[in-house]
Amino acid sequence: MTEATLYQQLGEGAGIGTVVNRLYELIIGDESLAPFFAHSDMAEQKRHMALFLAVATGGPNAYKGKEMDAAHAGRGITDADFDKVIGHAATALTEAGVAPDTIETVAGALLALRPKVVEGAAV
Ligand code: HEM
Repeated sequence: MTEATLYQQLGEGAGIGTVVNRLYELIIGDESLAPFFAHSDMAEQKRHMALFLAVATGGPNAYKGKEMDAAHAGRGITDADFDKVIGHAATALTEAGVAPDTIETVAGALLALRPKVVEGAAV
């Protein structure tokens, strides 16, 4: 028997869509993070994030967006901003009923992206 991929554990495309919608609701509702997306097309942003997460969790590869370092370069994103986004992601995953160990695995994969997202990250 094969283990379910992380993508399957998240409920595949539909499950990821629910989590991404909630994640950006939480981000836009957070006054310290909302300004980063002031000029963004949020429908496009959600679409990119959902496709990115699908690839990152072992699902189909249809992501055609930028590499993570290019997508975030020059935006002045701090460690604190990054930690808040990871926290909102954990909340969105919890609310969607994703199992705690799966959330930990997803959070670990997202945390590994810190150096590509944060401006002048320590590691
Ligand atoms: C592990 C965490 C993160 C992941 C996986 C992620 C993922 C993405 C993806 C897939 C895109 C789209 C790239 C494209 O359009 O080609 C993007 C763009 C962006 N991200 Fe992130 N991101 C993360 C953290 C953050 C944080 C912490 C912030 C700021 C607080 C942020 C702000 C932005 C902004 C402002 C854009 C550009 C939106 C636009 O095109 O208008 N991201 N991110």
